[in-house]
Amino acid sequence: MIGTNISLAAKELKAGNLVAIPTETVYGLAANALDEAAVKKIFEAKNRPINNPVILHFPNKISVLPYVEGLTDDAHKLADAFWPGPLTLLLPKTAKVPNLVTAGSNRVAVRVPNHLLTLKLLSELSFPVAAPSANPSGYISPTLPEHVEKQLGNRVAYILNGGPCVKGIESTILGWDSDGLPIIYRLGSITQHDIEAVIGIAPKIISKEHKKLEAPGMLQVHYAPKTPTKLSSNLPKTLKDYNGKKAVAITLMPMEKNIAMVKNLYLSVDGNLEEIARNLYKTLHTADAMNAEVIIVEEAPDTGLGLAINDRLRRAASL
Ligand code: TXA
Ligand code: MG
Repeated sequence: MIGTNISLAAKELKAGNLVAIPTETVYGLAANALDEAAVKKIFEAKNRPINNPVILHFPNKISVLPYVEGLTDDAHKLADAFWPGPLTLLLPKTAKVPNLVTAGSNRVAVRVPNHLLTLKLLSELSFPVAAPSANPSGYISPTLPEHVEKQLGNRVAYILNGGPCVKGIESTILGWDSDGLPIIYRLGSITQHDIEAVIGIAPKIISKEHKKLEAPGMLQVHYAPKTPTKLSSNLPKTLKDYNGKKAVAITLMPMEKNIAMVKNLYLSVDGNLEEIARNLYKTLHTADAMNAEVIIVEEAPDTGLGLAINDRLRRAASL
């Protein structure tokens, strides 16, 4: 069932059931984080490997404190600067956090999402909710309630309808290494530069080539359509290469001259990166439903938010 009934969503969560919740990034598949049986349902519904930990969601910074071994000055500064918002912090956990949530790691991922309905819901609960993106493992994340309904409708007790997600890509994940140096484990709409502006040091970005992946969100082939997908840095050439195939071209802006006569979906009217991020998954969902032989996606510029967009596109690409 889809609706905006916060009390009903709260009731289902208290009863140990799954509820899809809107956030500013993507829809989450939420369960009571302190109830292991409820958290297990998340893994089953998504077909998610049990070694892939999940993020805890809180209504505010204060409510996070019982679940982490204190916040450093920098963690306080970042929380104050970006919460509620698309920043997830990886912090040492307390015993209150079930091991299933962190996949046995001694660090827990925490964030305060920026969505009015979900903040209201979280403030009515006496527990944090564990919530990965509400998609089957490996598939495109949902940015509309309809995406959740289509993919996992029969697995959730309720879908809280918060409309389209305004950011459109998952939160930035930030942690600190054993020397106390900040690391971005997953790129998101809060950029390296945004973080540097608050803590005075640019976090290192752990690239996908890095061998020991600490966040499986960094894994290859993730966020992927079922249709074979090609990422292109040279659209005219790629269109030529796939000439004769039934293709959908997803471009950053409307195609000026559709010489290849392919179907064209565009991510923005003027190349604005925030608009491109917001429309990215929705457009991939649409393209994937068009029965094409190939989806061709145009790469974004590799700067600022473009880095996070390209990170997702590289993982979505299978060709
Ligand atoms: O924007 C978001 O972060 C969305 C919304 C719903 O909040 N959530 C989300 O969750 O993207 P998920 O599960 O799809 O991605 C979470 C990523 C995964 O790559 C997971 O491995 C990593 O965070 N992660 C979670 N807990 C972790 C931990 N304790 N240590 C390392 N990585 C962790
Ligand atoms: Mg996910």
